[in-house]
Amino acid sequence: MSFLKVFDDLPDDGTRVGFFNQQLDDYRGRKTPKQKNRPAFGWHQMFRELREKRPVLQMSLPPRVKGAEPTQMFVFSRWHDVIDILRQDEIFTVRPYARAMDPSVGPFMLARDGVCPVRDEKSDMLSVLSSEDELTISAIAREASRSALQKTGGRIDLVKEVSRIVPVRVVQNYFGFPSSEDASSTLAQMLRWSRATQHDMFRNFTGDKKVHATNVRAGEDMRVHLRRSLGEILHGARPLGSDAVSRLIRRAQADRDFIELDRLVSNVCGFLVGAVETSSQAIVQIVDYLLREVPDAIEKETIEAANADDNRRLVPIVWETLRFNPVSTVLLRQVAKDYVLNSYSERYVIGDDDAGLKKQNRKRIAELKASHRRIIQGNEKTTIPKGSYVIAAIGSAMFDEEKFPRADEFLTSSPEREDCNYFHFGWGAHKCLGEISGRIIVTETVKQILQVDGLKLFPGEAGEINFGKPPKGRLKGPFPEKYVVGIK
Ligand code: HEM
Repeated sequence: MSFLKVFDDLPDDGTRVGFFNQQLDDYRGRKTPKQKNRPAFGWHQMFRELREKRPVLQMSLPPRVKGAEPTQMFVFSRWHDVIDILRQDEIFTVRPYARAMDPSVGPFMLARDGVCPVRDEKSDMLSVLSSEDELTISAIAREASRSALQKTGGRIDLVKEVSRIVPVRVVQNYFGFPSSEDASSTLAQMLRWSRATQHDMFRNFTGDKKVHATNVRAGEDMRVHLRRSLGEILHGARPLGSDAVSRLIRRAQADRDFIELDRLVSNVCGFLVGAVETSSQAIVQIVDYLLREVPDAIEKETIEAANADDNRRLVPIVWETLRFNPVSTVLLRQVAKDYVLNSYSERYVIGDDDAGLKKQNRKRIAELKASHRRIIQGNEKTTIPKGSYVIAAIGSAMFDEEKFPRADEFLTSSPEREDCNYFHFGWGAHKCLGEISGRIIVTETVKQILQVDGLKLFPGEAGEINFGKPPKGRLKGPFPEKYVVGIK
């Protein structure tokens, strides 16, 4: 059964978008009652077909105002095209993020493109996050995981007890997110703020107004808290430490032009918003995939590497595992001006070595040019109109044979798997600010979980990752809310 056959037979009135989105919700293509009579493909199968047959898929979003023209949405599924989108940030803009970010945490780097003061703040933030902090971050993550995992008793909910807690501890103790006056409520409050903001900013696909309002309230509360506590630190009423916030404040004390308090507040909100649900989802999806899907030999090797504390072996396994079930399969952008879809054919015509094609390979070039013409089926347009949405399908790109040879196999060594080809932390101008810490949080926590003696899948539905209640039209909720594993 072909995804495109079913897709093309659906009306282009938003129904196709809904069908596409449902495939994104599942990597296995298992049917759920919500899919009723339609087949379920899952995103692996859908993107395999798209990469091969229609590398740019077009569909229409229903107009918000009756009688208006529908907005177009374009899905790019090949590695090189995803790079093309993410590198041209002034054309493929992050504007869609502004709706949820601006009223919550204030203007923020991930909702701005090009040359502007808010974007400049990324280098200020990066300047206090050093790869030399690796040992500090691993120690925090290791201690937090170990103490959380001690609460075992035949079974453990990894989300509640471990995967959400470890990143919060790193945000507190490494990034230096200040505690509330009532320190006992700090953890619960940080979890609430982080979930509410992440939900609206990254997972509110249906534009739910309640989700938006909860985010705005959480962002405002967080800013009130941070304005007060960071102000106190800035004026010497609270002591400085060695964390990232203290480093920022030391520089602000020495140089009045460095960064003003309100901007510091928005950026410190970003430490919490960015860190928790992303890391938590990565941790549980990696553990689940390792226990459920990989061949026994790889599972055994991974557990051995974890027990030997051997990061050289463990790290490539961790990111390869996440490739099969990543945190995000797609990144959303909006087109700032009409864009002519010609870069794809041009690249092959000049025989880009990266694409593995030689100039002389005329037959292949002719084939690719022909497939380029078929890109937007039934429609000769090759222009993406200003205002359209563009989806950079990073999950698909990590299965593109050009950069991931033998893509369906679980491989961990070069040249088949090069770390720089993965998209787990995005790419280009908006590449993740917390990449170093995210990598350490995830690897260290997965390692500690795998070291638990007798770790195993919990049988039945209770042992599946529970994503909570799905919004209308989707198959799962925004984040892993519960994931129970057994302990022999
Ligand atoms: C496993 C954990 C993480 C994953 C998978 C992840 C993933 C990502 C991705 C894919 C992007 C790019 C979004 C886009 O281009 O639309 C991003 C950006 C970002 N992430 Fe992370 N992230 C993680 C951890 C963290 C942590 C620990 C922080 C804390 C500082 C953080 C803060 C940010 C920020 C501030 C941005 C925006 C950067 C910019 O606009 O230039 N993330 N992250």
